[in-house]
Amino acid sequence: MKTKKNVIEEVLRKSSVFKEEDKLSIDYIPPYLPHREEDLKKLSQYFRRIIEKPGSISQRVMITGGVGTGKTAISKLFGKLMEDAAIKRNINLHYLHINCRKAKTNSMILKYIIRKFNPRIPERGFSKEELLFMFEEIIKTRDAYLIIALDELDFLLKKSGSDIIYDLTRLGDEKLNCPQRLSLIVIVRDTAFRSGVDLSTLSTLQHNIINLEKYTTYQLKEILRYRIKEAFYENTASEEAVNLIADISAEWGDARYAIELLWRAGKYVDMEQQFIIHPEHVRKAKADTHPSVRREILRDISLHHNLLLLAISRQLRISQAAYATMGETKEKYNIICEEYGEKPKKHTQIWEYIQDLENYTIISTKISGSGVRGKTTLIGLPDVPTSVLEQEIIEFLEEKKYDYE
Ligand SMILES: Nc1ncnc2c1ncn2[C@@H]1O[C@H](COP(=O)(O)OP(=O)(O)OP(=O)(O)O)[C@@H](O)[C@H]1O
Ligand SMILES: [Mg+2]
Repeated sequence: MKTKKNVIEEVLRKSSVFKEEDKLSIDYIPPYLPHREEDLKKLSQYFRRIIEKPGSISQRVMITGGVGTGKTAISKLFGKLMEDAAIKRNINLHYLHINCRKAKTNSMILKYIIRKFNPRIPERGFSKEELLFMFEEIIKTRDAYLIIALDELDFLLKKSGSDIIYDLTRLGDEKLNCPQRLSLIVIVRDTAFRSGVDLSTLSTLQHNIINLEKYTTYQLKEILRYRIKEAFYENTASEEAVNLIADISAEWGDARYAIELLWRAGKYVDMEQQFIIHPEHVRKAKADTHPSVRREILRDISLHHNLLLLAISRQLRISQAAYATMGETKEKYNIICEEYGEKPKKHTQIWEYIQDLENYTIISTKISGSGVRGKTTLIGLPDVPTSVLEQEIIEFLEEKKYDYE
């Protein structure tokens, strides 16, 4: 009698298949990364001297690989393990992870680093030299050692070249007798090498390179199983559903897409008040997501970037055209601003946003040839179906309810 009652109680209590949904969030870094153990070991080998003999070397390593191959995850996990190892040995070592998509300029990066140690530094415009000097003073007086990871460096390289690497590495090089306090991990997509970005200053990094290969179907399956154990109750994901997710995402070898499909499939199960993820939930999840729409990008860009992107996708969906003109885009953007009760931005600002969105590779632009009433900028969405993007932004804005800073 007793067991039966417990089973029923359990089912009733379990109104969700998620045990810990947070474990599938973008910010969560799992403590174990299946199929990246070897790479993690390699990374540790490169940096072991920093723990064994702090100050003796300044290490520089580059991590490359495709989208969702675990570059960010492995670097953050490594940083945490290094900090733990340092604490045990009384070494004042810090790992700082900087996303260059957010810290867009050299000064922003330097300020970010300094703020970690001294949150009170004022906003006012310091010159780069002043910031470098402050930075040097701070780590010297605190007797600190740093591993700085510059993630998504491709974004910065496109905008302002690679002099941040030069500046940071020069700090150590100029004073050869001083302890070496700063080491670098530079993370770039493998596509950066093909997109004409000037990588010459990165050439010094190319001796120590860790290239993360795309995940295979088999690897994705194991990653999924591991993440399921963390995030879901037992026996809530059918083997077939896991296989299907792995098959779909293996085309890109992208673990992020696999995890996103898993999360969405779980949401469908909850919505339908069922208890097990089946392939049909995966198919539904696939229909409303696309690997090149990254929710974290929607989160990182401002409200008006989102509204503008919404305008572009709506315009393209309605017109069925390959490109939208600047004029059409602005018109739709103004209407959307009204819908959302926002004051539209001026032309120059919109123009800047368009360039930002292109930098994020969400949109592409080109100049029209003659024919379309003089020359105008044409805006396209190369990768994503408009309806998927539109829906995604609407959902996202609904969730956010404008809690932008
Ligand atoms: N081996 C793995 N085991 C478990 N989870 C993983 C593994 N590799 C990646 N992930 C997860 O997949 C998602 C994408 O990984 P990550 O953000 O590190 O990719 P990335 O290579 O940095 O991609 P991008 O180039 O888009 O920045 C994250 O949620 C991460 O935790
Ligand atoms: Mg990343």
